[in-house]
Order: sequence, then C-alpha cells, then structure tokens
Amino acid sequence: MSQTRHILITGAAQGIGRAVAERFGQEPGNRLILLDRDSAALGQWLETAGLAAEVHAHAADIADLEGLRTLFRELERRHGHVDVLVNSAGICDENEPEDIAAWHKVIAVNLHGSFYVCALAQPLLADGGRIINMASILGRAGKQRNTAYCASKHGLVGMTKALALDLAPRRITVNAILPAWIDTPMLQQELALQASTAGLSLEQIQRNARKKLPLRRFIESEEVAALAHYLASPEAAGLTAQSLVLDGGVGLGM
Ligand SMILES: NC(=O)c1ccc[n+]([C@@H]2O[C@H](COP(=O)([O-])OP(=O)(O)OC[C@H]3O[C@@H](n4cnc5c(N)ncnc54)[C@H](O)[C@@H]3O)[C@@H](O)[C@H]2O)c1
Repeated sequence: MSQTRHILITGAAQGIGRAVAERFGQEPGNRLILLDRDSAALGQWLETAGLAAEVHAHAADIADLEGLRTLFRELERRHGHVDVLVNSAGICDENEPEDIAAWHKVIAVNLHGSFYVCALAQPLLADGGRIINMASILGRAGKQRNTAYCASKHGLVGMTKALALDLAPRRITVNAILPAWIDTPMLQQELALQASTAGLSLEQIQRNARKKLPLRRFIESEEVAALAHYLASPEAAGLTAQSLVLDGGVGLGM
C-alpha cells in the first residue's frame, strides 16, 4: 500500500458509513473519498466534522451504473488508486412477498449497486488493498416482509466470498460485516415504523427492543467502524472471505 491511504466509502452521509469515515478521518495520513446519493447531507456534515484526513466528497447513486462509470473515471484521474473500499450504502425497505417493484428497488441498490462499486473499483485497487461490505444479520437469517432485503444481503455475503477468492492472488482481502441493531437513522426509522404500527411511542418501542437484546443495548455505529478499521489494518492481512457478525449476540437466538 502507498503511504497516503486512499479510503473510498459509500453511504458516508450518515449512520455506519459516516462513523467509518470519522474513524479513518482521524488519521491525517488518509485521503477519504466519500460517496452518497444525499450529497447535501454529506456536505453539511463535513462542514463541522473537523476530520484530520484530506476529504473529497462526491454525489453518487450506487444503483446508477452509467453515473458510476463517469464518476470512477474522474476518481481514477484525481486519486489514481484506492487502498480500502467500504461499501456501506444501502436501503432497508420492507416488501410484501408479492411486491415485484419493491424487490427490484432493494436489489438494485443493495446488491447490484454494491457489486457495481466493487467492479468499478477493482482496476483502482492497490495490491494488498481491502474491500469491506456492510451486509446484515439478514444475510444469514430470514425475516417477514423482507424477501428483497434478505435476498440482497445473502447475495452480498455470497459475492464477498467469491470476490475474495478472485482477488486473493493480489493480496486484496474481501470481507463482510453482518451488523444488527446498530443505532443509526436506518434503525430509528424502522423503530418509528414499528411504533406507529403498534400504536406505541418511539420510546416504548425502543425500550421493548432493548429488553430483547442480550446486551440490553443497541450497538453504536462507532463499534462497527472499529471493526472495519481493524479489517483494513496490517494485522488483518490474512483475514478474507469472512462474514463477521456484529449484533450483540442477538443472532444466536434467531
Ligand atoms: N443499522 C443497522 O442496524 C443495520 C443492520 C444491518 C445492516 N445494516 C447495513 O449497514 C449499511 C449502513 O446502514 P445504516 O444503518 O448506516 O443506514 P442509514 O440509512 O443510516 O445510512 C445509509 C446511507 O446510505 C446512503 N444511500 C442509500 N442508498 C444509496 C444509493 N443508492 N447510493 C448512494 N448512497 C445511498 C444514504 O443516503 C445514507 O447516507 C446498510 O447497507 C445497511 O443495510 C445496518
């Protein structure tokens, strides 16, 4: 890897992607290349983020292949290479089992979009580089009203394993993190939906949820970022093709 590490993060405007950017952004030797479809939110956060690393922010919808092709040509011109790619952009829309439109929407972002970014980043990836994909505990388990999300995350886990073997000759590691119950806007949006369906307040739903979790708390996005940071470290050079569950133990009871 080169001395200035170039870290490309999708979904960096909020939640886990933002926490990953904050973690790598503490190191002045890093150059962050941050992508999000919500460029206004990304820009607003960066105004006050005070990161030590050099930061470049780009608007990008990972489901838009042609837009990504143009962007990656620009990234190659401006940055030359990428050392670490973190795919965090994703959506969690629920769907009825017969809902074909919702299926395509979720698969387009979570599976096709993540694959497009991996595919377009490959020529830029330095030998010895890292790819880290944010999958989900629902890359292993099923959930009602979530055929599309579960399929997208199972697909991402499978893609991670196969890509790890493809890129192993270049010493590039590819791993998936399988989070659950991470306290981000995505989780809060899901809890708000449950609260309105159940006719309860958000606080009641949050309390009920915590009671069901072995650690009795949600996981902080910074804890996910710390795992991503480890996967990008020299100590993790031999760790590849793995699916690392970070869920406070809740998956054991599924
Ligand atoms: N929060 C959790 O408990 C949890 C659990 C399991 C998996 N995950 C996964 O972790 C990842 C991050 O989740 P989060 O909780 O931070 O979500 P979040 O909704 O808080 O943040 C997601 C970010 O991705 C961006 N994004 C969404 N679609 C995009 C697209 N098409 N192109 C570019 N950017 C896009 C959003 O604008 C947002 O900034 C997701 O892939 C999610 O499925 C989260």
